[in-house]
Amino acid sequence: MTHQVRAVVAREQGAPVSLETIIVPDPGPGEALVKVEACGVCHTDLHYREGGINDDFPFLLGHEAAGVVEAVGEGVTDVAPGDFVILNWRAVCGQCRACLRGRPWYCFDTHNAKQKMTLLDGTELSPALGIGAFAEKTLVAAGQCTKVDRAASPAAAGLLGCGVMAGIGAAINTGNVGRGDTVAVIGCGGVGDAAVVGANLAGAAKIIAVDLDDRKLATAVKLGATHTVNSQQTDPVEAIRELTAGFGADVVIEAVGRPETYKQAFYARDLAGTVVLVGVPTPEMKLELPLLDVFGRGGALKSSWYGDCLPSRDFPMLIDLHLQGRLPLDAFVTETIALDEVEKAFERMHAGDVLRSVVVF
Ligand SMILES: NC(=O)c1ccc[n+]([C@@H]2O[C@H](COP(=O)([O-])OP(=O)(O)OC[C@H]3O[C@@H](n4cnc5c(N)ncnc54)[C@H](O)[C@@H]3O)[C@@H](O)[C@H]2O)c1
Ligand SMILES: [Zn+2]
Ligand SMILES: [Zn+2]
Repeated sequence: MTHQVRAVVAREQGAPVSLETIIVPDPGPGEALVKVEACGVCHTDLHYREGGINDDFPFLLGHEAAGVVEAVGEGVTDVAPGDFVILNWRAVCGQCRACLRGRPWYCFDTHNAKQKMTLLDGTELSPALGIGAFAEKTLVAAGQCTKVDRAASPAAAGLLGCGVMAGIGAAINTGNVGRGDTVAVIGCGGVGDAAVVGANLAGAAKIIAVDLDDRKLATAVKLGATHTVNSQQTDPVEAIRELTAGFGADVVIEAVGRPETYKQAFYARDLAGTVVLVGVPTPEMKLELPLLDVFGRGGALKSSWYGDCLPSRDFPMLIDLHLQGRLPLDAFVTETIALDEVEKAFERMHAGDVLRSVVVF
């Protein structure tokens, strides 16, 4: 059996997305069919539409989603119809060299659905990050479904599926922020603000938010930043040093993805401190640093893929903290929109007007 549902498709590079009817197959072995309840609009969806990820058009966009499992294929035991799940793009294989060394959050062979979703004429779709959840139903690998407490709102829960997890994880998993640490976050969009929240959860004593936009800094303060720096007006490296007794922060999280902000992170860090790059650069970008400074300043220069999260470990825990009032996921939902408003949401994201627009079904 197959299902015909409405979905947001990017047919060609740079062109506005369109609302289409697509065909979703019933789940085969190891797969799950999910009725999507909410899906956030992430910068990465826009990257796909602009051809910045690869050329496998048409794309089925959307990947920050929560929903209910409608059916599962043969051999699926971890989730069952009726389960409320967050979709993840790290369904670990258990067999690659990372998994076998006990580091599944680096898994190099993550699973996606084997069967293809298609347009009505049979053209195969490429789902964004192997998810494709700007659709009433989507087909994923069962391991991409992480069961969490049904009491959470789908719009808030779905955000853990990508950007918010990336930011929180950049602080707590990759940066290993601890009690009493000083932390600076450069770039306070959805990901950077989530890093602020993560640093707060981990017990950081000082959290310095850096952005070019005062609106973003105001939100960062609401989410737990203790100090702000507008780097259009002030040199952020000097400002961060001043706020940390002249030394720099223990952990600096770069959530923009540009060489100049990476350099700021590098020099705004205390000796033996940690830089975490969670912002994603584009292919032409280059970084130049005196090698002596790389050596002489010591510490760790790390990149954070998806917040080094392990969905089965992190999603249920973070949803529990959210339900206890300790993790303000709702604050990331600036607006809820309908499926046909994704193109408009891209414009608002581009203008910096929103942290997240979330499609609610
Ligand atoms: N590593 C991962 O797994 C992962 C996952 C999701 C997203 N990301 C990446 O994280 C980055 C941020 O994503 P987002 O959704 O928060 O985007 P966003 O557009 O919402 O936020 C970017 C923020 O950076 C600020 N900014 C831009 N240039 C700046 C500068 N020179 N100095 C200081 N601030 C500056 C903007 O004002 C904005 O507030 C993107 O590169 C995105 O691709 C990474
Ligand atoms: Zn693996
Ligand atoms: Zn995303």
